[in-house]
Order: sequence, then structure tokens, then C-alpha cells
Amino acid sequence: MTLHPLRSTRSARTILGLAAALMIGLASPVSAQQASGTALANVLVLGTGGTIAGQANARAGNAYDSGKVSAANLIAAIPGIDKLAEISAEQISSIGSQDMNDKVWFDLVKRIRAAIDNKEVDGVVITHGTDTMEETAFFLQNVLDTDVPIVLVGSMRPSTAIGADGPANLYDAMRVASAPESRGRGVLVVLNDTIHGARWVQKTNTTSVQTFRSPDAGPVGYVDTGSLRFLQPAVAIKTAKLKLPDAPPLPRVDIIYSHANMDAAEVEDAVKRGAKGIVLAGVGDGNSSKGAIDALAAAAKQGVVVVRSTRVGSGYVNRNVEVEDDKLGFAVSLDLNPQKARVLLELLIANGITDPSAVQQAFAQP
Ligand code: DGL
Repeated sequence: MTLHPLRSTRSARTILGLAAALMIGLASPVSAQQASGTALANVLVLGTGGTIAGQANARAGNAYDSGKVSAANLIAAIPGIDKLAEISAEQISSIGSQDMNDKVWFDLVKRIRAAIDNKEVDGVVITHGTDTMEETAFFLQNVLDTDVPIVLVGSMRPSTAIGADGPANLYDAMRVASAPESRGRGVLVVLNDTIHGARWVQKTNTTSVQTFRSPDAGPVGYVDTGSLRFLQPAVAIKTAKLKLPDAPPLPRVDIIYSHANMDAAEVEDAVKRGAKGIVLAGVGDGNSSKGAIDALAAAAKQGVVVVRSTRVGSGYVNRNVEVEDDKLGFAVSLDLNPQKARVLLELLIANGITDPSAVQQAFAQP
């Protein structure tokens, strides 16, 4: 759906844009673009659901239903956002991101690629639930080969809550997606005035608006009232650009969570279920009990691709420290948490990359 009510004539837009520039400060890249009299950036908003589109539930208390409000209606409710960009909005799905799946991911890629190939857009904003936002961001970064800013945004409070954070987050995401300075930085996540890179960002708190952090690298930048502040110059993000199969699903990769008193059962069950890959959410430096490690080694011998990650939440998993990866045929996830390691391993297996040393090389891409 295109947001025709948000469209205005170019000259009117330029005047409104200048007014907006004065309100948000001329240091902003968005306002610099407007002040130079150039056309506003074209930004496509793709709605997928999540709390940002959540509505209070009649059960009252703090209950709400996620994914109820369309992306078009979210935008229409934000004063001044139409001064930042020429906005069009489409709905890809209306789900809580706990239900995010390969089909929605493939649909997103298809739509984004078409918009970029047709030169429809200078930037893309994706509204998304926060629970699996980091996985979608990392998935897109691995399959999209573009300089166009792709920005994921969500909120921790539903749109009907007192102090809803969605409108400000969406406004900020629009500023980032429409700014030339955002080009070539890979897929970004914007919440709570902060810009994160897809490889490093993680949801770290169940309820706080300050939930997204990048523990191993720090944020990419900040959105403040006067400007976008990127902390580093844009460097080309060198991820392996992986091909998508023609249609979902991606190959099955299971995550096995390590814990005290663990035996081989979970690993053996995953192999029986037909997992093509297993990611270990290991203790500490990606370790597990002797029983589980032996079962993983047996799985690797049968051709299941095994990647060791960690349940800890930050830090690297290094090769051959406590576990003999070379001997057992494992790869390690380095800085990728288990959920992102799973995404990358699905894509690698789909691309026929299953040899442990080739898998390891792909995980090492910054
Ligand atoms: N179920 C969650 C999701 O859509 C709601 C949490 C959120 O969006 O913040 O990811």
C-alpha cells in the first residue's frame, strides 16, 4: 500500500523539509539534504508486525496483541515524519517475531531486491518485533548485496501504551534510512536513540527500552536531536554474500543449549530429527559435557555441520582452546551468538558449504 496522503508537491515538501530541518537541527544529514534543495530520499517501509504494531488487549493489565497496526497507520500517526522522506509503506506480514520464519525472510528479500533493482528507494525501514530482530537483520546482511541503508526498527512498548517508544524509534529509523551517511554500513538496527550493526546487536533485556546492545563491538552510532553520529567512517561490510534457494525452507539447523549434568540425548535427538547442522550454545568458551561433545563429534563424522557458540552473551569462542576442534571436525562461531550462528549455518549449508574449514572461514568474515 502506498501512503498517498503523505505525499505532497516537491516545492511544498522542500519548504516543509526546511522547517523540519530547523526543528531537528541543521547538523543532521537529513536536514543537510533538504537544505541543499535536493529531493527527499525515497524510503520504503515494510511492516512485519511486533510490539511496535501492538495494541492493548481487552484482558487489560499490561497485556497486548502484537502486530495489529499496519505500517502505514504507524507512519500516519507520527507528526513530521513525512518531512523526512518520500514514504511508501507495504505490509509483508503481521506477526509477533517469535513466529518469524523463512517465508517472511524470503518475501522481504524479494521485495527489497526489486525495490533496489528498480531504483525505487534510497533506503528501507523494516518494522519488526524485537525478539528475533537481530536474526532477521543478520540474515538480510548475509544475502543482500547493496549499499542502500536497510534499517530494522521495533519498540518495547505497544503503540497504545503510555510512553510508547515506537513513534520515536520509527522517526529515528526514517532519519537513518534517508541519510546518505548511512550507506554502505550493512543492515542496521535502530532503537532507543542508538544505531547498531547487524553482526553485533543483541536483545539483552526482556522488558527495558534500552534492551539492544552490541556487547563485543559497541554501537555503530547514535541518533540525537541534532544529528546522526556515526562513530566510525563507513567501511564496506565484507560478509559472504550467500545465495538464497528459489524457495523456503532453509536447511534445518538446531541449537543445543548446554548445561550442568548434560548427557548426549539432545544432540542424538537433533540428529534423529534430521538436523543438517547443530549450533552448540555452549557453557563458557563454547564447551559442553564429555557426553555431549562426544555425541557432537559422532554427528560431525556423519556429515552434520557442528559449530560451537556460547550461551554467555558476550565474548569470542576461539578454536582449539578447551575443545580440540581440528581433531573433532568442528567450527567455532567467534563473536556470533547461537541464534546468529544458526542463521549463517543454514545459509552456508544451503550454499553447499559444509566442510569445517570453509564454514570456519565464512564465520570469520567481519
Ligand atoms: N512477541 C514479541 C515480538 O514480536 C514482542 C516483543 C517486541 O516486539 O518487542 O518480537
